[in-house]
Amino acid sequence: MKRSSNILGGLLVLLAVLYAACDIKTYEHGEILYENFCANCHMEDGTGLPGIIPPLAGADYIGLYPEKLPCIINQGIKGELVVNGRTYNTEMAGIPQLTEFEITNIINYINTAWGNDFEIVKHLDVRKALEECE
Ligand code: HEC
Repeated sequence: MKRSSNILGGLLVLLAVLYAACDIKTYEHGEILYENFCANCHMEDGTGLPGIIPPLAGADYIGLYPEKLPCIINQGIKGELVVNGRTYNTEMAGIPQLTEFEITNIINYINTAWGNDFEIVKHLDVRKALEECE
């Protein structure tokens, strides 16, 4: 009995360590992808360019339309959109070469970087959103 509970305890510790390691990796992966594919425009600190490129840091848009993010990243977006009360109308090209996993990690980076506190998304939610892009 004691022995098996020790093994179980060991397994739990191992799982916790793996889980934490995995969590850090996906965040860092998202950060690297963000720097390569998004920071050019949205800036490394997510503030964008006033009047031209909307911010991602503290952006109400992300909280209002979380389901749109996968499609915006994959297909881009054009036309008027309002972020934090400010209207933008510059086209963003899509980045179709990013995989579902990469998109998930980028979104989770954005959702938790720079003081953002938006919900973590799962890979399956991203897949579903991508299937329903207009
Ligand atoms: C070439 C410049 C450029 C790049 C690169 C770019 N964006 Fe954008 N992004 C824009 C512009 C411009 C808009 C506003 C589009 C409009 O006015 O219709 C926008 C809008 C957005 C929005 C919705 C508005 C907001 O601020 O919440 C999100 C989310 C977004 N981009 C995320 C990303 C992510 C994630 C990446 C990288 C995978 C990325 N963008 C790469 C220029 C860019």
